[in-house]
Amino acid sequence: ETRIIQLDPNHLDEPYARQQIEYAARLLREGELVVLPTETVYGLGANAFNAQAAEQIFIAKGRPLSDPLIVHIADEHELENIVSQVPEAARKLAAAFWPGPLTMIMPAGPRVPGLITSGLPNVAVRMPAHPIARALIRAAGVPVAAPSANRFMHVSPTTARHAYTDLKGRVPLILDGGPCTVGVESTILDLCAEIPTILRPGGVGLEALRRVLPQVRPPRAGQVHDEEEELTQARVAPGQMRVHYSPSIPAYLFEGSVAAMRQAMLAELQTRQARGERVGVLIADEDLNTFQESGAIIYSLGHTPEQVATHLFAGLRTLEDAGVNVILCRSFAEQGLGLAIRDRLLKAAGSKVTKV
Ligand code: TXA
Ligand code: MG
Repeated sequence: ETRIIQLDPNHLDEPYARQQIEYAARLLREGELVVLPTETVYGLGANAFNAQAAEQIFIAKGRPLSDPLIVHIADEHELENIVSQVPEAARKLAAAFWPGPLTMIMPAGPRVPGLITSGLPNVAVRMPAHPIARALIRAAGVPVAAPSANRFMHVSPTTARHAYTDLKGRVPLILDGGPCTVGVESTILDLCAEIPTILRPGGVGLEALRRVLPQVRPPRAGQVHDEEEELTQARVAPGQMRVHYSPSIPAYLFEGSVAAMRQAMLAELQTRQARGERVGVLIADEDLNTFQESGAIIYSLGHTPEQVATHLFAGLRTLEDAGVNVILCRSFAEQGLGLAIRDRLLKAAGSKVTKV
């Protein structure tokens, strides 16, 4: 009962595409859920002004109500309907990074249901760049609340197939716009904090933000801010064990020089293979020679940080589907998208890091 409609993001002005977007927009206006592609990850959308519709998001995902949602807009003037005040910094950042993978936390306006902000005085807003997301939000005529379109505790979806795997039978419609280009979620920047602070590293790097707003603070060390982590943090004191959740299989992150990482991963691989385990490795193109003959199930994330980000979640899901017992992954440089990549790898590994 979940329909998947394929649309070419470059040909949305054709009659068929317009019809399908209009159909999806009608579903949203009527309070139904629609899975939509964005440039970061697929989102599970609902009319942000309809609390009952937003509640369906939490039910479909199996997500606790204590975790607030991002409101997506297509035009900057829609901000006035969502926030009570637009900080000066938000104008500057919007000019530089919207549409794009930046979410800003601002004081919530009276029209935003408490369900969306989980009762907080602030609301998260983002203007996505994906043509299908933009066309859909415009056609719906309302802002669209959307978390990542995965089941609670699972890896975010970067293809329509990923979203279908997690949400089939729970949503009437998935718009398939092909694989997401950025591949990690948006950067969340808290503009309500005394000093603008990154709550979740994402598609816009720290360096890029600082070129516009030099005082931006990096995420607090050890803080991994996301839907699932939020809960854990509320109950577990810092330093205590974190819940492992991302892929359904244990993952280990290796950190160190490239040569040392490869060596340690190979050693761990051999030990586990000797015990009869199936081992998956998440590596980069330049590691392929090292692992070619190793007997591991190999997934290469590519070469550049952009490629690694794009393929990261697909890699985790692919290894999971390949039925491996464990995933060993290497780490990457921390500049630019590297901060987001490390954050997601740490989460996937449930903070199990092997320093070599
Ligand atoms: O790239 C993205 O941001 C994707 C696409 C679909 O736009 N969305 C996404 O949403 O990643 P979600 O719900 O999976 O993660 C957003 C996080 C939430 O976990 C929540 O902790 C935080 O944003 N958040 C939302 N509203 C907030 C608020 N008012 N204050 C602080 N954090 C908030
Ligand atoms: Mg999420």
